[in-house]
Amino acid sequence: MPSAVDLDTLLARHPRRPESLLQVLCDIQAVHNHIPADLAVQVAEALAIPLARVRGVIGFYSFLCSEPAGRFRLLFSDDITDRMAGSQALMSALCGRLWLEPGKVSEDGLVSVTTTSCIGMCDQGPALLANGWPITRLSPRRIDTIADLIRAEAPVADWPAEFFRVADHIRRRDRLLNSGPMVGAALAAGLARGPEGVIVQLERASLRGRGGAGFPTGRKWRACREAPGDARYVVGNADEGEPGTFKDRVLLTRHADLLFEGMTVCALAIGARQGFLYLRGEYRYLLEPLQAILAQRRAAGLLGAAIQGRAGFDFDIAIHLGAGAYICGEESALIESLEGKRGIPRNRPPFPVTHGYRQQPTVVDNVETFCAAALIALSGGDGYRAIGTEQSSGTKVLSVSGDCARPGIYEYPFGVTVRQVLTDCGATDSQAVQVGGPSGACIGADEFDRRLCFEDLASAGALVIFDGRRDLFEAAHNFTEFFARESCGFCTPCRVGTAMLQDIMAKIAAGHGTRHELDQIAQLARVLQQSAHCGLGHSACNPTLDMLKRFRPTFERRLKTLDFEPAFDLDGALARARAMTGRDDAGAHIRSEP
Ligand SMILES: Cc1cc2nc3c(=O)[nH]c(=O)nc-3n(C[C@H](O)[C@H](O)[C@H](O)COP(=O)(O)O)c2cc1C
Ligand code: SF4
Repeated sequence: MPSAVDLDTLLARHPRRPESLLQVLCDIQAVHNHIPADLAVQVAEALAIPLARVRGVIGFYSFLCSEPAGRFRLLFSDDITDRMAGSQALMSALCGRLWLEPGKVSEDGLVSVTTTSCIGMCDQGPALLANGWPITRLSPRRIDTIADLIRAEAPVADWPAEFFRVADHIRRRDRLLNSGPMVGAALAAGLARGPEGVIVQLERASLRGRGGAGFPTGRKWRACREAPGDARYVVGNADEGEPGTFKDRVLLTRHADLLFEGMTVCALAIGARQGFLYLRGEYRYLLEPLQAILAQRRAAGLLGAAIQGRAGFDFDIAIHLGAGAYICGEESALIESLEGKRGIPRNRPPFPVTHGYRQQPTVVDNVETFCAAALIALSGGDGYRAIGTEQSSGTKVLSVSGDCARPGIYEYPFGVTVRQVLTDCGATDSQAVQVGGPSGACIGADEFDRRLCFEDLASAGALVIFDGRRDLFEAAHNFTEFFARESCGFCTPCRVGTAMLQDIMAKIAAGHGTRHELDQIAQLARVLQQSAHCGLGHSACNPTLDMLKRFRPTFERRLKTLDFEPAFDLDGALARARAMTGRDDAGAHIRSEP
């Protein structure tokens, strides 16, 4: 049983206020493998919040639990690329070696093995998290070693270091990835330009957000600067949960200074004193390196009071950890999470630029957007505008995975064709590419000349490649499971609709599907697009619909009949009752229609 001193130590790491709730719970989870009930009560008292709120937060985030999860908690990444690389067989093998049922904790409390949504290692899967630490390139041999280490109760910190090596796989560089260390240069240029000058350069550059939606960044920063409020905030969105996306992971690893520089330039432009980097829980292993960079920047006078000697320019950045909830990438859910609450998207409007963190004006931008903004503050907007296409200036960093010889990170000027990327990454015999993750679009070979830019295929830059061997129904099935797992449950259309879609796909997969189920998918899509509360629900049916539209035979091959086929065989179920009662008269059978 943990002592009060333990909790005090954990609480001392964070400000004692309600906003710290999630961070405190993450720390308790890391120490105790769960949130013990007595500690939940003490946390509620210490942060002066209702116990129900503490319980609600524990129940919301998939990495937190109120019952012990196993001293070794293994979470297999369940992205489609992990599955294509054999993750399901490897997980079964590990469970077999440990005499364990997936999803259950072993009776001695030693170990639990289950799946989680994509952990952002698609270029080096199959992958898993072992007590939060990523292990990549899983193989039968690695699985055997892991089973032995768990049986020997060897602490994860003592497992072979090469298991935990995360490669960057930068395959093609352009303006952003070619940029050298950025320690104060963009900030100095930004100070020379002044807040208005910085925003003008962003507008001249026509920079658009890299998180997917492509909102004009200069307009966002200006709106925030001009919004009334007592304080302003800068938030870096490093939640990167879209399956197939891992470019922010590499930017955080290789270009964190550029990111923090961009966030500080933003603070200068909008007049913020506090910034947050919202780091997804799956990237917890990057926390200490990122904190070290922040410490260096403080020591160099690039964060803290009177930055670069400018009196009144005070700004600092805190890192806030997520805890396994894809929806927290949506900016208003992210802000709720920053405030220590469940990550439920807010009603919009009002938007974060006027009512964000603590209801104050807030800029939330993607990691890559801040990096690009730093480059623009340094070199000006015109040169940046000259790259790319009419409506999409600059370059885009892509995450490329699936069936290709060289998965990894590729940076191109906007407007590059999908075909060019496929050639560069060594993809042959490709039948389809999922652009932008499950929320994006699936295109077939006849569309490979389409361009990656906001005018054509707009996305956050994930390309998952499927060659001719792949059954695209499996991919669509995996995506529906993803949305059902990640729906936050707040609104009925999405909570129920994603579960129904998952059931329909399971029914088809089990060989009980008919044309009726295919029609139902289209109906569900309409309901979700029209009535779901946020973008997750709006796009939950997209991949299935896309694949159905373009690759219908892969679905129809699995249909049992083109007519209605009930998933539940009522007469078959009644057979047991007939056997038990000894009845076999007409009344003991389902009456068939004349
Ligand atoms: C379900 C959902 C998940 C999202 N996940 C992310 C994410 O992981 N990273 C991100 O930058 N934006 C994500 N977004 C978009 C954000 O809401 C927001 O538009 C973005 O952070 C704004 O930054 P930008 O203008 O720099 O793109 C997501 C949106 C939705 C609806
Ligand atoms: S659409 Fe889905 S994820 Fe969005 S609020 Fe509704 S239930 Fe939550």
